[in-house]
Amino acid sequence: MTINFDEIYERRNTNSLKWDKFKDRYRAKYNVEDADNVLPMWVADMDFAVPQVVIDAIKERLNHPIFGYSYISDDCKEAIRQWYKRRHNWDISKEALLFHSGVVPAIATVLETFTEPGDKVCISTPVYPPFFNIPKGLKRKVVECNLAESKENIYEYDFEKLEEEFKNGVKAYILCSPHNPGGVVWSEETLKKLIQLCIKYDVLLISDEIHADIVFDGYKHIPTMTVEGADQAKIVACIAPTKTFNLAGLHAAIIVAENEKLRKKLIQNKNAHGLDDWNALAAAGVQAVYEKGDEWLDEMIQYVDKNIDYLEKELNQIDGVRVIRPHATYLVWIDYRGTGLSEKEMMDRLLNKGKLALEPGTKYSEAGRGFLRMNLACPFATVKEGVERFKKALL
Ligand SMILES: Cc1ncc(COP(=O)(O)O)c(C=O)c1O
Repeated sequence: MTINFDEIYERRNTNSLKWDKFKDRYRAKYNVEDADNVLPMWVADMDFAVPQVVIDAIKERLNHPIFGYSYISDDCKEAIRQWYKRRHNWDISKEALLFHSGVVPAIATVLETFTEPGDKVCISTPVYPPFFNIPKGLKRKVVECNLAESKENIYEYDFEKLEEEFKNGVKAYILCSPHNPGGVVWSEETLKKLIQLCIKYDVLLISDEIHADIVFDGYKHIPTMTVEGADQAKIVACIAPTKTFNLAGLHAAIIVAENEKLRKKLIQNKNAHGLDDWNALAAAGVQAVYEKGDEWLDEMIQYVDKNIDYLEKELNQIDGVRVIRPHATYLVWIDYRGTGLSEKEMMDRLLNKGKLALEPGTKYSEAGRGFLRMNLACPFATVKEGVERFKKALL
């Protein structure tokens, strides 16, 4: 390892959602008594410093004292294209790149462009909460179709159930690939079946691939748009460097729209809302990581993998608790159904006895009841501390 992921940074009082804002969110709901001393291992950002190349690139941009209107350079677009070619064998055309401030607002733009209020939007639950909050906010009807659970506790698609929903007039389906929570890397066969189903029922497929880069040994993320048959589907992908390199605060995402008809409509809608491309600092930072971030990412994945080894070894010793080993993402899904504790009891114990903030499973829909999500993108010392606190909570 050449990068020191053990370094601990004080993030309190930095306007950090994870470290400063969780108090408001959890205090009210769970009656947290000592919020200042709770260890936050919830929302999906890392406690690691970003790659040095980001800081260098932004500093260099800061050397010029004018921040007038800017645009995304061809060099930046090429860095993005080369990254996806190199890491994912995905040849994205330059024209297909539509820039956005985030994957969540990008999904909103896509839904707003291609569906109407009252239309049905289908999602596979449990899933990342904006998948239901965004369509609901846009007055679309959300159709939740639960994923099935395999023997290993890993989620898989129940295509019969999904087809039943599609038959009833679904307009759009939001895919999470890799899946959050659970960290499932979907197989090519699964993606192929999903694409065929979308074609059969003329469903728009929105493929959120924000977690694509953080995949552990033995698994391979397959970009949905590279799967056989995808060119026949109504499909767009949403990608971003923000989970990969811990850049959420810079706000940068991309809608990939290869289909010209879809792309034109998306551009029209972006223009109608005056949505701009990335800001100058985000563009500088993102170009740098896509050109020079490979080593940092490879080492970060190895580091987090070891964090997960430790968590799995320790928590699996607790009666009724089972760590579900993710194929991808630094977010670990923990099954505690065997403890018999209700979610309220579990959250109360974690927050007040253990002083540990994890995500409660029902945040990801009712299908997540009995699970917790824990963020392991942090120094090993923090993981150890988190494990101690988890054990204390359950004593
Ligand atoms: C599946 C998924 N999509 C999107 C996001 C957030 O995207 P953004 O911050 O670009 O809006 C997250 C964050 O955790 C996520 O897990």
